[in-house]
Amino acid sequence: MPSSSARFAQLPEYVLARIPAKKRELLMRGVDVIDLGAGDADLSPPPAALARLAEASREPALQRYGFGLGYVPYREAVSAWMQQRFHLRFDPLTEVVPLIGSKEGISHLAFAYLEEGSVGIVPEPGYNSYQGGTLLAGGEAYRYALRPRTDFLVDLDEIPADVRRRARILYLNYPNNPTAAVAPRGYLESVVRRCRELDILLVYDNAYSELAFDGYVPPSIFEIDGARDVAIEFHSLSKTYNMTGWRCGWAVARPDIAGALAKVKSFVDTGQFMAVQAAGAAAIESYASFVPANVAVFRERRDAAVAAFREAGFACETPKATMYLWIPLPEGLPSADFAERLMDDEGVVVLPGSGFGAGGEGFFRISFIAPPDRIREAARRAGRVLAGLAPAVASGRGS
Ligand SMILES: Cc1ncc(COP(=O)(O)O)c(C=O)c1O
Repeated sequence: MPSSSARFAQLPEYVLARIPAKKRELLMRGVDVIDLGAGDADLSPPPAALARLAEASREPALQRYGFGLGYVPYREAVSAWMQQRFHLRFDPLTEVVPLIGSKEGISHLAFAYLEEGSVGIVPEPGYNSYQGGTLLAGGEAYRYALRPRTDFLVDLDEIPADVRRRARILYLNYPNNPTAAVAPRGYLESVVRRCRELDILLVYDNAYSELAFDGYVPPSIFEIDGARDVAIEFHSLSKTYNMTGWRCGWAVARPDIAGALAKVKSFVDTGQFMAVQAAGAAAIESYASFVPANVAVFRERRDAAVAAFREAGFACETPKATMYLWIPLPEGLPSADFAERLMDDEGVVVLPGSGFGAGGEGFFRISFIAPPDRIREAARRAGRVLAGLAPAVASGRGS
């Protein structure tokens, strides 16, 4: 039996790995399952994207390899949108990298910047491609715990000096999955300044830039002076347009950084199906008619979730952005135990904070991927489990 590599052996279990089988088992037993686990909305993509895919999938020129260049109007749509949304200019040919989902680009980027002895600073809890890319590229993952103490922000000055010296990449994601935290502009300014001083590539994952509420408008990292020297930013069609399965995203950066990612990709893929990129361009171009109404659906779900989980005995804050609630548990109640009981006894799927790494312990995450009534019902069931597992806490809050 061939043995696996040491790099491979370092990969932890994926947080969502065991859920589908368990959910199927519950459904087969006739349980009324409410799945609030993955960040994968139950809503439809823009009609313009569906129509364009149907048409583009028959165009002979789009059946061939896309290679790195791909479908040029997709690059142009990205560039025009970045200009309109953030007032930033990125050259479509040299500063935009089309991706087969942003996860693909985030993890592949590490191969251009990390090697043995170098460090990727990985916020924990956090999206798994940060540590996945770092470990598979042979780098060392330095896990920084995102806790309420720092408003879920990474403070580079808390990281030991020898780690900082070896750090080549800092992964940041605001609005944040799973904590739903957002980053104040002053914080982003200081982080860009520190990355310039320390020569660290700032990988800014902006997958939730458009899912924001109550007038909050998430920035691009490139709105910060000096960011072009040190940053690359990732965007995704997945959450903004309910297109998770389409695998469509992009990165923007100055030409040498964008070029490094494109070069790695030229050795591992041969481009996205160009009909999907054509549909992606149509989605981006339908932003004004699609996105505000879609965000309103998520806002209604967020409001329902916050009210219902509070009523059920949980102390949750109202998030300004993302499709998540990051809900604290009473001290001493392991999140994995809570999530398991909630699934087994009540048929509700949530993600335990510890599934995102030790830094996520003490919390669980729900996603707004079901209508408000189902979220309310899930909250009632979660309240019952909480009351069973932590009677003192629940009765204190419930009265
Ligand atoms: C923070 C974050 N970044 C990136 C992604 C990946 O998105 P994509 O579907 O574009 O690969 C996700 C998906 O859940 C995410 O939560």
